[in-house]
Amino acid sequence: MLSDAARSEIQAIQAKYPKPQSAILPALYVAQTEIGWLPNEVLDEVAELFNLEAMEVYAIAGFYNMFYKWPKGKFHLEICTNVPCMLRGANELAEHLKRRLGVEFGETTVDGNFTLDHMECLGSCATAPMVFARRSQSDWGRYYENLTVEQADAMIDELLAFAAEDAPAPPMERTPAGPYHHDHHPETNFLLARIDKADSHTIESYLADGGYETARKVTKMIPADVVREVTESGLRGRGGAGFPTGMKWGFVPKTLFPRYLVVNADESEPGTFKDRLIIEYDPHQLLEGIICASWAIQANYAFIYIRGEYMFGAERLNAAIAEAKEKGYLGKGIFGTDFDLEVIVHRGAGAYICGEETALLSSLEGGRGHPRLKPPFPAVAGLYAKPTIVNNVETISQVGHILAHGAEWYRQWGTESSPGFQLVCLSGQVKKPGVYEIPYGTSFRTLIYDMAGGTVDDRPIKSIIPGGLSMPHLLPTSVDAGIDFESCVQAGSLLGSGGIMVVCEGESIVAVARRTLGFYREESCGKCTPCREGTGWMEKVLKRIERGEGTMADLDNMQRITKYVEQQSFCPFGPAAVWGLQSTLRLFRPEFEAHIQETNPDSHKPDLPVRPIYRPYVGEPVINLLED
Ligand code: FES
Repeated sequence: MLSDAARSEIQAIQAKYPKPQSAILPALYVAQTEIGWLPNEVLDEVAELFNLEAMEVYAIAGFYNMFYKWPKGKFHLEICTNVPCMLRGANELAEHLKRRLGVEFGETTVDGNFTLDHMECLGSCATAPMVFARRSQSDWGRYYENLTVEQADAMIDELLAFAAEDAPAPPMERTPAGPYHHDHHPETNFLLARIDKADSHTIESYLADGGYETARKVTKMIPADVVREVTESGLRGRGGAGFPTGMKWGFVPKTLFPRYLVVNADESEPGTFKDRLIIEYDPHQLLEGIICASWAIQANYAFIYIRGEYMFGAERLNAAIAEAKEKGYLGKGIFGTDFDLEVIVHRGAGAYICGEETALLSSLEGGRGHPRLKPPFPAVAGLYAKPTIVNNVETISQVGHILAHGAEWYRQWGTESSPGFQLVCLSGQVKKPGVYEIPYGTSFRTLIYDMAGGTVDDRPIKSIIPGGLSMPHLLPTSVDAGIDFESCVQAGSLLGSGGIMVVCEGESIVAVARRTLGFYREESCGKCTPCREGTGWMEKVLKRIERGEGTMADLDNMQRITKYVEQQSFCPFGPAAVWGLQSTLRLFRPEFEAHIQETNPDSHKPDLPVRPIYRPYVGEPVINLLED
C-alpha cells in the first residue's frame, strides 16, 4: 500500500538516527499521512522496512494516541476537556460542537468530514477552550484557541472550505504568540524577552540580539568548567523534579562515549504550556542552550523529543536547525572547532508517560513508551544504553543565560535552594492566565492578584494546584506561600512543572477530582497493575459519586487505594496520579460527604452487578467496586 516515495522517505529518516529503529514513530507518521490511517497491511510493510515482527509494530502503533487504528473523518477535531480547560468552559463548547456536527465523541459526521473526540491537555490551558484540528491525510494540524461558540462555528466553516482538494491550508501559527506576561518583573525578563519581536523565531532576529555569542564563547571553554558554572548557579530542572542540573551533568562517566543529550519537549502535564512558547517563538534560544549543554557533556547528538501535537513547534524547530546549520553553528565542526553536533527533532505521538525520562528514552529508541527501572540512571546508561542527559526545554534555555552572565549573577534572584527565575504557567479561573517569568520566592498572592489581576468575577479562591495536575491542592490560606521548591513543600504540595491552576468557590471539587483521575486512567501506560487498574477503579467510583450513587464508604476505600497506587507503582506516574485525589479527600472531605448525603441520603447502593475485584491481603475486607 505504501508508495515508493513513502518508502524512500522512511529510509531517509532511518539514516538520520544512530539506530534505525528510532525512526519508527516518524515512519508511522509518513505511512499515516499517505493512507490516512494505519491498517494492518501498512503496519506489515513498516515492519518489513524495519526488519521487525509485525506484532512488534502493531504493539508500538497501538500504544500511541495519534496513530489511527481505524479511518477518521477528513478532519479530526479534539477538544481538550482536562481540568484547566474544564474550568474555562470546555464542556459547554464540546456540547455545542456535538450539536453542530450531529455526533457524539468518537463518531464521524455522515459526510465524512469531521471526527470529534475529547482530549487531554494539549498545552493550551491559558487559551482555553481550545480545539486541535488535524487533517487526516496530511501533516497539517492547528490549534484553535480561546474559542467562543461563534468562533467554533467559524472554525468549522474554515475547515469545510479547506476540505476542498486544492484549497490553501489555514496557517498553523497562532498570532499573536499566546499569552505571556513579562512586564511585571522587568529585572527577570530573559526567557521571554524576545517573544513579541517581529520574526523572533528567525536567526537574523536572534543574531541581532547578540544570539549565539554565548555558544561561541562556551565552545572555547573546558567542558568541566562549563559544568562547574552551571552547578554553581544552582539551576534546578524545570520539568517537574527540580533536580540540580549541573549535578546531573556531573554524573556522566568520564570514560564512556558516545553520550547523548535529550531535550524533553514532551510538555504534557496538565496546566503546563511554557515550553511551547520558547519552541514556537524563540527556538534559537533553545538551540543555543543545546549547544552549550552538548559541549559541556561532549555529546555529538542532541535530540529534541517534542510532543506530537506541537506540529507547528516541530516545524519551527526544524527551520531553526536548518538556519543554524547554514551558519555553521550546528553540524560538522561547529564555530570552527573540531566538534560535531547534530540536532534531531523527534515527534512523540500522544502519550503523556513519555514525559517521564526513561519512558521517553524507550520511545526514542523506537518502542512503546514504557518506563524503565532505575538505577541505572540515564546519565550512566540511557539512550542505546549510553550516557544520556535528559533536560527540559526551559532548563536548557536557562543554561544559555547562566553561561552568558555567570553563576553569581543568576543567584541574585530567588532563594538559597531555588535560585534564579522561572517560567510559571497560570491557568484556571484568573483574569489574566498565561506564562509569567518571575523570580523564585514570589508569592502566589503577588502572582494571582497583582500580576494576573485576580480571579474571574473576583470569586474567592477554593484551591490552588501549584505544579501541574499531579500535585496536591493547596487551600487559599497558602496564598502567601512563595513559589519555590521549598515553600511549596512547606505548604503541603510540590512546585512540579510550575503549572499553577486556580479553582474558585462555586466549582465542584468532586468534578475536579473525577476529571483528574480520568486523565490518569487514560494516560497510564499499563505496564504495572496498581497504576493501570487503580486509576480506572478510582475514576469509576468518582463517577458514581458524582452522579449520586456514592456512599460514605467509597471515600475511605478510595483513600486506601490511593496508598497502594502511590507506593506500589513502577514509576513516578503512580504517585502523581493520586496525590491530587488524596489532597482533595483530605482538604475537602466535608464537600464530598455533603454531595453524597445530598444525592444519595440513604447510602443506597445502585442495583448493579457487584463483583469483588480487589483483595490485597488475606483477611482484609473485599472492596466492592461497581462497574459504571
Ligand atoms: Fe486543556 Fe491544558 S490545554 S488543560
